[in-house]
Amino acid sequence: MKIRISASILNADFRFLKDQITEVESAGVEQFHLDIMDGHFVPNISVGPFIIQTCRQITSLPLDTHLMVENPDQYIEDCIKYGSTSISVHIENNPNIHRTLQRIRNSKIRSGIVINPGTSIESISSILDLIDLILIMTVNPGFGGQSFIKSQLNKIMAAKEMIKDMKIKPIIEVDGGINSQTLPLAHQAGADLFVIGSAIFSNPKGIPASIDELNRSLK
Ligand code: DX5
Ligand code: ZN
Repeated sequence: MKIRISASILNADFRFLKDQITEVESAGVEQFHLDIMDGHFVPNISVGPFIIQTCRQITSLPLDTHLMVENPDQYIEDCIKYGSTSISVHIENNPNIHRTLQRIRNSKIRSGIVINPGTSIESISSILDLIDLILIMTVNPGFGGQSFIKSQLNKIMAAKEMIKDMKIKPIIEVDGGINSQTLPLAHQAGADLFVIGSAIFSNPKGIPASIDELNRSLK
C-alpha cells in the first residue's frame, strides 16, 4: 500500500541536499516536511525559513512547514513568501493561537496545529474549524532520530473521534520516530499522513529502499 509520506529533511545530508531531495521525490513521497527551530521553543536550532525557498527551487512538491519557535507570527509571512503550502504551529505556549491560524488560513495555504506529547487533545477543541491538519508529535520535538512514544497512539485515536462528525475533516499527521515498525501502529490508530526523517535519510540501505520498505510496512 502506498503510504502518504511527508519526508523530513532534518536528517538529510546537507552537503547533498539537492540530490537527496531529488532522490526522495523520485522514490515517491507526497511532500517534504521542513522543521524550523529557534532554540527557545525547543532545545535545538535547525534552519530558518530560507530553507523553504531553497527546497522550492529543487522540487515542486508541497512544502509542509513545522514551526517550533516561540513566536510563530514573526515567521509566517516569510514562510508563505518562500513557498510553504502548509504551516503548522504548536498549541503550546501561544495565547493568540486563534489569530495565528486565521492568518495562515487567510493566506490561502493549509493551516496545521501541532500537539506535543505532554499536551492533551482537548486543548485543540475550540480551534478545529480553523485547521486543515492535526500534527500529533510522537516524540518530544527538537531532534530527529528519537524513539516513537507509544502512549501517543491513544491521542491519535482521540483525534480521529474528535473530528468524526466534521464535514471536512482535518488530516491527521504524525511526526517523530516513524519507521516500518511504528508506522502500522500509527496507521491503525487513525493517522493519514506520516512525517518521516531518519528512517528515510539515515537508512544504510539508501533512500529508494527505505521508501519501499515503508510502503511495504502496510499490507
Ligand atoms: C522533530 C521533528 C521531526 C523530525 C522527525 O522535532 O519535528 O519532523 O525530523 O524525524 P524522525 O523521523 O527521525 O523522528
Ligand atoms: Zn516536524
